[in-house]
Amino acid sequence: MNKPIRYAIVGTDSRAGMYIQALLKDHRDGNELVAYCDLNQARMDATNRHWSAKLGTAPIPSYLPTDFARMLREQRVDTVIVTSVDRTHHRYIIDAMENGCDAISEKPLTTDAEKCQQVLDAVERTGRKLRVTFNYRYTPLASLVKRLLMQGVIGKPLSVHFEWLLDTNHGADYFRRWHRDRANGGGLMVHKATHHFDIINWWLGSRPETVFGLGGLRFYGRENAESRGVTSFYERATGSPAAANDPFALHLDRNEWNRAMYLEAEKHDGYLRDQSVFGNGISIEDDMALAVRYESGATMSYHLTAYSPWEGYRIAINGDQGRLELDKVDSAWCQGPEDPAMTRLLAEHEAIDAAPSERLTVRPHWGRPRAIAIPSGEGDHGGGDARLLQDLFVGGSADPLGRAANHIDGAWSILTGIAANRSFATGAAVRTRDLVRFRDAAPAQPVQLLRAAAARS
Ligand SMILES: NC(=O)c1ccc[n+]([C@@H]2O[C@H](COP(=O)([O-])OP(=O)(O)OC[C@H]3O[C@@H](n4cnc5c(N)ncnc54)[C@H](O)[C@@H]3O)[C@@H](O)[C@H]2O)c1
Repeated sequence: MNKPIRYAIVGTDSRAGMYIQALLKDHRDGNELVAYCDLNQARMDATNRHWSAKLGTAPIPSYLPTDFARMLREQRVDTVIVTSVDRTHHRYIIDAMENGCDAISEKPLTTDAEKCQQVLDAVERTGRKLRVTFNYRYTPLASLVKRLLMQGVIGKPLSVHFEWLLDTNHGADYFRRWHRDRANGGGLMVHKATHHFDIINWWLGSRPETVFGLGGLRFYGRENAESRGVTSFYERATGSPAAANDPFALHLDRNEWNRAMYLEAEKHDGYLRDQSVFGNGISIEDDMALAVRYESGATMSYHLTAYSPWEGYRIAINGDQGRLELDKVDSAWCQGPEDPAMTRLLAEHEAIDAAPSERLTVRPHWGRPRAIAIPSGEGDHGGGDARLLQDLFVGGSADPLGRAANHIDGAWSILTGIAANRSFATGAAVRTRDLVRFRDAAPAQPVQLLRAAAARS
């Protein structure tokens, strides 16, 4: 029997949970979780208590970042899983590979062009493997769209229209947490939209060539609230009387997990998880519009809004033989204190339930539109997480859709956002080829040329 693969996880909070459960329970055959590394010892201790209580497993040895190399040696780590704050990904990926380990990195691969180049160079220098875990590729819905495009249902994709909405629950959270500082996550163009840009690169079988963008902070932040007439402010919600009735406030003392992971851990690193979304110091955008041209010649208009009343997306792909439309609702509305004047006003007009529906439609040229059956995607992230974990920790299945993403895919997925950030700052269009150098990149395979593989899948 093969020896189990020995894993360490760096960054032991929210996202790490998915990997911890997989390695300690669902996929423990052939895999072993041997170490944690995190900046915050209290957070690692709380993580250990949580999983020991939940699964009855022994605590995992924990190390601070200064002992990362010692951890790799002492625990004979084969693969490092990076689930820490985005700005630290490159450092752990590179250190892991320099020490003879493979790496699995959460998205985004990293946050800027310089760090991206360092990661690409390190992969070449060390010859180690790097996987970037794009769970959206593994959702049955995204996989179906890829298959339809590979089968040529709309012919050659010529243009994409893509709108992603983050609601005032989930979207707002990026403005309470570390993401609010551009230095930590590269803004939502990198941190969040890396998913979207990866999906488009993968669906089209192409790469972004030129990006022009306009972005700004239009809703969150103190100045925007002031301009809407708000006069009561606070810096953090927990314990603040001004936050008592704010639907945007997160009170860390009202939930055991938040108390252990943040309130009791903050003395170690000063991290405040409950900052006001209308506070000072936000350096990222909440409203971003892009025009992108791809190497295949296709173009994309893209919009990301982080203060929407509902969460989900609308995508349309125009091909030379038809059009594919996909609407998906992840959360139809956010419950909170609706303004009574608005309730009265809308009552006068309301006719039907305005909640948008889920639908995937193919409209061939010269043919009637076809509603496509949407496969069920149970579990987190539209069913993507479970399928991703199966691929990572069990593997062995054919991958005709090419869902497994490597360092090259990871890099291309962030280059649209990095170019967008540069375009926001300069007002000019940015060419991605001017951002990093790829030495070993195979040419992209345009999706419409992959029919044979699709037919086999
Ligand atoms: N694929 C997905 O759908 C998905 C979903 C959520 C998060 N993520 C990714 O997972 C990563 C973690 O996100 P999260 O939501 O769990 O964040 P989090 O804030 O919950 O956890 C981040 C952890 O990193 C630790 N950390 C901070 N600085 C560190 C350092 N210098 N060295 C080591 N550890 C450090 C923190 O103490 C914390 O435990 C991010 O890169 C994020 O993009 C991916």
